[in-house]
Amino acid sequence: MGPMPEPAKSFYMTTPIYYVNDAPHIGHAYTTVAADVVTRWHRQRQEDVWFLTGTDEHGQKVLRTAEANGVTPQEWADRLVDSAWQPVLETLDVRNDDFIRTTQERHTRRVQAFLQDLYDKGEIYAGSYEGPYCVGCEEYKLPGDLVDGTGEYEGQKLCPIHGRPVEMLSEQNYFFRMSAYAERLLALYEDQPDFVQPASARNEVIGFVKQGLQDLSISRSTFDWGIPIPWDPAHVLYVWFDALLNYATAVGLDSDDPAERERFARTWPADVHLVGKDILRFHAVIWPAMLMAAGLPLPRRVFAHGWLLVGGEKMSKSKLTGIAPADIIDTFGSDAFRYYFMRTIAFGGDGSFSWEDMTARYNGELANGFGNLASRTAAMIGKYFGGVLPAPGPLTEQETALADVAARAVADAEAAIDRLAIHDAVAAAWSLVDATNVYITETQPWKLAKEEGETDAEGRGVDGGRLATSLVTAAEALRALAVLLHPVTPKAATALWASLGAEPVLGPLAAQPVQSAAAFGVLPAGTTVTKGEALFPRLVD
Ligand code: MSP
Repeated sequence: MGPMPEPAKSFYMTTPIYYVNDAPHIGHAYTTVAADVVTRWHRQRQEDVWFLTGTDEHGQKVLRTAEANGVTPQEWADRLVDSAWQPVLETLDVRNDDFIRTTQERHTRRVQAFLQDLYDKGEIYAGSYEGPYCVGCEEYKLPGDLVDGTGEYEGQKLCPIHGRPVEMLSEQNYFFRMSAYAERLLALYEDQPDFVQPASARNEVIGFVKQGLQDLSISRSTFDWGIPIPWDPAHVLYVWFDALLNYATAVGLDSDDPAERERFARTWPADVHLVGKDILRFHAVIWPAMLMAAGLPLPRRVFAHGWLLVGGEKMSKSKLTGIAPADIIDTFGSDAFRYYFMRTIAFGGDGSFSWEDMTARYNGELANGFGNLASRTAAMIGKYFGGVLPAPGPLTEQETALADVAARAVADAEAAIDRLAIHDAVAAAWSLVDATNVYITETQPWKLAKEEGETDAEGRGVDGGRLATSLVTAAEALRALAVLLHPVTPKAATALWASLGAEPVLGPLAAQPVQSAAAFGVLPAGTTVTKGEALFPRLVD
């Protein structure tokens, strides 16, 4: 027997792990949905994919919330994970492969091993630190980062992100020798230009590191809600050092278990860490420095998306501007939620949500644009062909033009996903929705049905006519759309696949490679098409 082939690398993507101090709002949902769309897209390419999300449960922020609610931090975390953070994935129709909690033993044990290794390598030393700390960010701030308070906070220094006063902390801690990595980090950004994306994020990170790096305080001794430092259990690990390691511990870093080792070999390094721009530096500076110190391979990309804004500021629970995902999804459904945020906000930039815009796009783009296209095509196949797909006649320029639009839509969407321009990918798919609507308006099947030779004595459409060609072509465009939009609007795409009767003849929707979705002439004559429920029922009021 020859050597075993190397297992194929999985496409491994992560979301940040969320603080359990509060329930999810649509800003958190935005990160998770984006990662879900991209990973579903890679699955639709028939790639092996691993998608991780989870919760960040240690640190002062969570501890204080638990205390304020009169429960232990573990009880608080359990409650929030069970009642909010796990269920929201269902609400959003997210298909993650794993959910890591930083209080799980698989994580804490591996974090301790990682720390001990860094300590043994001389990367960690004991020292002292004093500086302004923001509990909201769980981060020591540099004096230059702070803003002056006004009104109720007059005379105090505030965190620019949370708008709350910082606290002066002075402690004996352990430090990670991060300053030693500035040159290597700059070389990384240079040699691997897409390590940090988009370009604005990359520039910010380079500018920051060029100013020089300080060593990082990585332990705290004034509270105990954290992972104990293995050689000095009077200290707990700084929550960010703990949290960042989830990306590696969850896929089996340092495991002895053969299945876990295999998982690590298949997934690591991560292909994309998706993060909001507020937590870019942790991921693009501290995290690679930690991995360098440990001698582990670095992730391929850190992509920073923008914020959902309310009144020009980051939506947040602490500022009471948070909207729960269910508030929107109860009315519009998870597909519309996913579509709206992925389509309307250029991924990487900031955006905002409004009920008016959501309603207008739901009715215009989803109900009238896409849903109506699907239902009228199925209705006409029902009316003229008894719900059985006919054989088309010779193709004209109108059909080849639509097939060209489909080919371009797939090619553009594929390229956009690789750049993480999710909005462009959805827009590319929508070019096919629009072109197919135009195609139907122009070919006018309802008029063709009245023409000589298009129908038989019973008024039933005949094979090989223009009427047959137009409806088969529309059905082919819808088949392509089901595949292209499966990652974005999974429920509607699945319903459409069922309505086209595609599964018995082509197999499950998940098994259709997105790369070849645009090839027309795939649904065979004789396929049973049924008009199901409306994909996006029009909203009354
Ligand atoms: N626990 C840390 C992450 C640790 S990752 C090793 C954390 N958690 S968080 O719950 O505060 O935020 C998680 C993610 O939600 C971040 O990517 C953040 O950018 C995102 N968002 C929180 N509010 C947001 C908006 N208003 N808009 C868009 N994303 C937002 O940070």
